[in-house]
Amino acid sequence: MHPFPAVDPIPLPAPIWLMKLLHVVTLALHFVAVEMLLGGLLLAVLFSLFRGSPQSMVTARALARRLTVVMTYVINLGVPPLLFAQVLYGRALYTSSVLMGAYWISIIAILTLTYWLLYRFTARLEAGKSAWATGLSAWLLAGFIARLLSSNMTLMLRPEVWHDMYTASAIGKYLPTGDPTLTPRWLLMMAGGLFIGGLWMIYLSGRSTFTADEKKWISGVGGKVAALFGVVYLAAGLWAASVQPQVVKDGLAGASAYPLYKISGFAGYGWLALVVVAVLVAAIAGFAKLSSGLLSWTAVLLAALIEIVFTVYRDGVRDLTLLSKGYDVWDRAVATNWGVVIIFLLLFVGGLGVIGWLISVVARAKKVMEGAA
Ligand code: HEM
Repeated sequence: MHPFPAVDPIPLPAPIWLMKLLHVVTLALHFVAVEMLLGGLLLAVLFSLFRGSPQSMVTARALARRLTVVMTYVINLGVPPLLFAQVLYGRALYTSSVLMGAYWISIIAILTLTYWLLYRFTARLEAGKSAWATGLSAWLLAGFIARLLSSNMTLMLRPEVWHDMYTASAIGKYLPTGDPTLTPRWLLMMAGGLFIGGLWMIYLSGRSTFTADEKKWISGVGGKVAALFGVVYLAAGLWAASVQPQVVKDGLAGASAYPLYKISGFAGYGWLALVVVAVLVAAIAGFAKLSSGLLSWTAVLLAALIEIVFTVYRDGVRDLTLLSKGYDVWDRAVATNWGVVIIFLLLFVGGLGVIGWLISVVARAKKVMEGAA
């Protein structure tokens, strides 16, 4: 029996390559925001413990204040890839979402609680109160959301366990077990948080809102954190890649019905090279306690590129795994409605422009406020 539900007879309204391109771009942006949240929050919690160190407290507050804004990006940049993923992989993704349905739906409540705790954490820090317990609770919940997302994104690739899971519970009260790729994949995202969080601090150290002493402290600590967790991130990535089935590894080397996935294989090597470069840059910033505009923007560029190539690699892993089980994402009827596609693209580019403008307004407003404080 074919394990996947029947395909929707309505054709896709845009070419598959375009859907995949938009999916990768929006998901990479979601991952940048997710990693800033997971890493920045834990770092802010740790810094808030050193209440006797003015630099540590300044950094904790600076990160926390920005995290409430970062959370809006985590959520809003999560919606578009969810929609694209449902269009492209609905038959697998809807099934896995239902099979762990109780947990999947609970994400909304957990996310709301996390957001509230994040605001409480920032408010307590601003008021000079102890805030670590609130911040740590928010981080644990965010880490659990990440675990649920990893669980679903791997369960959608395993039609062979769906029947047993449905027999065990029709309301999805169990989480999937027995997948060797799940834990390394989740750890990769968690370690990536501290790595990107460190790069974020290198970026912050170049901002004119801090004193020279604070800049040195922020780049010194941020650089060391990014260098250390860059290595952990690298190790987790190699682990996650090594436990993929042989057919996926072969496909990434170009040996599948779609040699196109060689690009994903290259992206994997690109990821490796970029992480190594970022670790070196971070080590230089960390040990020499350097801060400059150039270093700031290098850190931002490296973080963005790393998430893009990571997402391209991850996309290949998913498609090749599904292909080996009879699900070919390219095998769909398409009837492109170019008028709608063009309007969509104009709105998409306009929307990205507005987001960029919003970020620059917020950044400038912060400068004025922090300068006045
Ligand atoms: C605290 C909040 C969140 C955290 C920590 C988080 C974390 C993650 C992580 C770790 C993954 C990768 C999972 C994996 O493949 O192993 C992921 C993927 C994803 N997240 Fe988020 N996320 C959050 C919120 C959201 C929200 C609110 C949405 C949507 C409204 C969303 C949409 C997605 C989608 C669609 C994917 C995967 C898409 C794909 O594979 O095609 N996330 N997220």
